[in-house]
Amino acid sequence: MSETHPPYILAIDQGTTSSRAIVFDPSGKIIAQSQAEFPQHYPNDGWVEHDPEDIWRTTLETAQEALKLAEDNGGEVVAIGVTNQRETTILWDRKTGKALYNAIVWQDRRTADICAKLREDGFEDHVTARTGLLLDPYFSATKAAWILDHVDGARERAEKGEIAFGTVDSFLICRLTGGETHATDATNASRTSLYNIHENRWDKGLLDKFRVPIEMMPSVRDCADDYGVTDPELFGRPIPICGVAGDQQAAAFGQACFEPGDIKSTYGTGCFVLVHTGKKVLHSRNKLLSTIACRLDGETTYALEGSIFIAGAAIQWLRDELGLIKSAGETAALAESIESNNGVYLVPAFTGLGAPHWSPGARGLISGLTRGSGKAELARAALESVVYQTADLMDAIARDGAETKTLRVDGGMVANDWTMQFLADILDLPVERPKILETTALGAAYLAALKVGIFESIDDIAERWRLDARFQPAMAPKERHHNLTGWADALRRTLA
Ligand code: G3P
Repeated sequence: MSETHPPYILAIDQGTTSSRAIVFDPSGKIIAQSQAEFPQHYPNDGWVEHDPEDIWRTTLETAQEALKLAEDNGGEVVAIGVTNQRETTILWDRKTGKALYNAIVWQDRRTADICAKLREDGFEDHVTARTGLLLDPYFSATKAAWILDHVDGARERAEKGEIAFGTVDSFLICRLTGGETHATDATNASRTSLYNIHENRWDKGLLDKFRVPIEMMPSVRDCADDYGVTDPELFGRPIPICGVAGDQQAAAFGQACFEPGDIKSTYGTGCFVLVHTGKKVLHSRNKLLSTIACRLDGETTYALEGSIFIAGAAIQWLRDELGLIKSAGETAALAESIESNNGVYLVPAFTGLGAPHWSPGARGLISGLTRGSGKAELARAALESVVYQTADLMDAIARDGAETKTLRVDGGMVANDWTMQFLADILDLPVERPKILETTALGAAYLAALKVGIFESIDDIAERWRLDARFQPAMAPKERHHNLTGWADALRRTLA
């Protein structure tokens, strides 16, 4: 280890639209980073796929670059933490490591009919009781079965143990360790619809019902655990992988949400609100999910989650599909350039709606357009839509009895002050933005740091959380009500 530098941790954050690698020091300071976007594939209505080789290539290249940048200044990366877009499903050949089919992304709706059929059969309560999830194409189980049913010979080979299943973390760990480790962590497992979150094991009844052979499944480990070492060819030496968590759970960890009632909202491609519920699984009466928040030393803690499928992706849509803006940063000035939304609302149900509606067939809608509506109204409607969707989640959380005093936010979008003030105004709740916005990667790095002994306990992590800005609600109740009524009306039309 270097004598002049503290030990560094490399966090790999494989997200929906980009792969990033960030090297942190133990104080949480970013030493080096690298990011690469990769193509999205929409082969059919409601389908979303990634090429697993793009996932791997961008992950490896960004990790190599960040590691080199960090070590060129004399430091040493001593461990790796992995965090990832959750639910996205990959099946690969155990011998060659080659994927059988593209990754079916969490946003993909192709198995909506299968889920509807299972619901008609009265299977949803059974799924919820064991997994904390609902029957929705969002989760991995029906995606895995779809691949087995549509790739020639796949099911037979899977039953013989020749095929491996994984969420993106497992796939990457397998590649990073040169095929040595086929494992996932408890948080990622809890998003598959195949994992019993109370007993912490793959559930035979669910595997049978979803027609997923147990022979394909990875071993499930703690979030701070031994996942093997990297193939020396990749980084010039073996480096231990010892922290793994799904991106939303990693963000909650990075935000030091460790106590019941601690709550965070992450704005990436989608938006995900997690409320920590301690060692208890809280069952929602308002269509939120119960999920594993973390598993450390065999002890599981849980969270209640609200999942919105489109947040930052609405801004990308303005940029890439409509060509209205060149960069996401332009939206705040556009939104501020008008006094109000002028009655224009966007419901970005591009891949159906998640919590609390769970309507896979819903499609996007813009309402209230007039001849005078322009770029500013659309940009503002996109930003506002993210806030209104968060408000719907917070409402469901409140109705489930969780008391919230402040909301900790993170992710790229929260750098936008206008949106954060509007969020505080609409929620009527203080919004806290931490100094480090990369809390997802930070959470993965902290997990790895815990395993290698840089931190003794999660208290060391909680102490490191630093506030950047607190946004206090300042909107008049009448205006808030007016805005929320307009949103509810647009939503009603979307769901009609
Ligand atoms: O559940 C999907 C989620 O993990 C994706 O996260 O950061 O790509 O929006 P993100």
